[in-house]
Amino acid sequence: MVATSMEQLASLSKRRGFIFQNADIYGGLQGVYDFGPLGIELKNNLKAAWWRSMVYERDDIEGLDAAILTNRKVLKYSGHEDTFSDPMVDCKKCKGRFRADHIDGKCPNCGSTDLTEPRPFNLMFKTHVGPVENEDNVAYLRPETAQAIFTQFKNVVDATSRKLPFGIAQIGKSFRNEITPRNFIFRVREFEQAELEYFVYPGTDEEWHEKWKEIRLQWWIDQGLKREHINIYKTPKEDLAHYAKACYDIEYQFPHGMEELEGIANRRDYDLGNHTKNQEEFNLEAHCHENKESNTKLCIQDENGKWVIPFVVEPSMGVGRGILAILTEAYNEEDLGDGNTRIVLKLKKHLAPIKVAIIPLKKNNEQIMNKCHELKQKLMKLGIGRVALENTGNIGKAYRRHDEIGTPLCLTVDFETIENQPESVTIRDRDTMEQIRVNTSDLADYLRNYFL
Ligand code: GLY
Repeated sequence: MVATSMEQLASLSKRRGFIFQNADIYGGLQGVYDFGPLGIELKNNLKAAWWRSMVYERDDIEGLDAAILTNRKVLKYSGHEDTFSDPMVDCKKCKGRFRADHIDGKCPNCGSTDLTEPRPFNLMFKTHVGPVENEDNVAYLRPETAQAIFTQFKNVVDATSRKLPFGIAQIGKSFRNEITPRNFIFRVREFEQAELEYFVYPGTDEEWHEKWKEIRLQWWIDQGLKREHINIYKTPKEDLAHYAKACYDIEYQFPHGMEELEGIANRRDYDLGNHTKNQEEFNLEAHCHENKESNTKLCIQDENGKWVIPFVVEPSMGVGRGILAILTEAYNEEDLGDGNTRIVLKLKKHLAPIKVAIIPLKKNNEQIMNKCHELKQKLMKLGIGRVALENTGNIGKAYRRHDEIGTPLCLTVDFETIENQPESVTIRDRDTMEQIRVNTSDLADYLRNYFL
């Protein structure tokens, strides 16, 4: 079973410290969320899994960490200033503003049918750089991390001597002034993306597009999502983003419906072409705007020494959406058969926020507590991730708490531990709830084998 409502996830997230509404004490800031003590661990683990599969386990990808504040010219030549907008209608009666494609001729707020014609509303957050607020100082918070990968293309090529095909990966915050943020952390205004721009020879782009679709689908399955909850959607031509030639969406069965988790777009030579000076020297496929402000040609030499502007295939995932999908899939309410139920998050162990909880059988027994502290000091240095000392309640409550947050192993120090030789503890498995006894001298090896 998986989570069937967003309320189940929002409630667990708040109760256990995964995700909080931003500025909760002031009634929140719409479409903005904060990740709590466990949320940050889950998010870091998911990003690390992405980085590992993209950068460490391949030999054709470099990393980048670019700034969020973006020079206006970047977003002028990328096409975002002109086209990154949603059609909006205003209600003349209550002054509400809504996405034209989300309403059916009636104001969802007051019911009035007195609406304006749809008008484009740009989704980018505008700001000013420096003390003067005028048009010359306009900058944007980036609406996608991708643009800096394109504008730094030449610097990365020069610094690394890469040849095609190769990619540049980046994880970071992006911002979109969504008109109607909704569905918990699914559609938000501040979010994190993990994007790969994979540069290929023109003509090989379609083959790479297919390859990346398969690689990314398998990666999501490796993160614990079931294939039957995933759909591959090929975007119809009329719905493609302004830069794309084709796009696959990897969709997931969220509690609110089958929706996009990751887009894999074929952006052709649109972006590198648009940011390039003297474009007429290249045989560009995408329709590009003349650029007299760029000082560089974003091109690379092929095997024959000819300069080409590569095509780009872009797998782009929303990190928050990934977390929502993983929580949805992992969420289980289990009937324990004795009149009791438990909520258990069946997270893959590499994603679990806490790897091991050390639990004292009796928290007012000094010897047991000392042993717990001693084990915590030892195990937290193993490099397996976070090890927690849990002494907030009784043993039953501690198990329930760690089931709910997805801790794979609970390690209990009991009377046998302090009284018998060789010294041993129990280890309880989250999913089977079975317990085994392990000698403390074998613990480090046992845990390393289990997690690494
Ligand atoms: N870079 C693709 C996107 O932000 O949707």
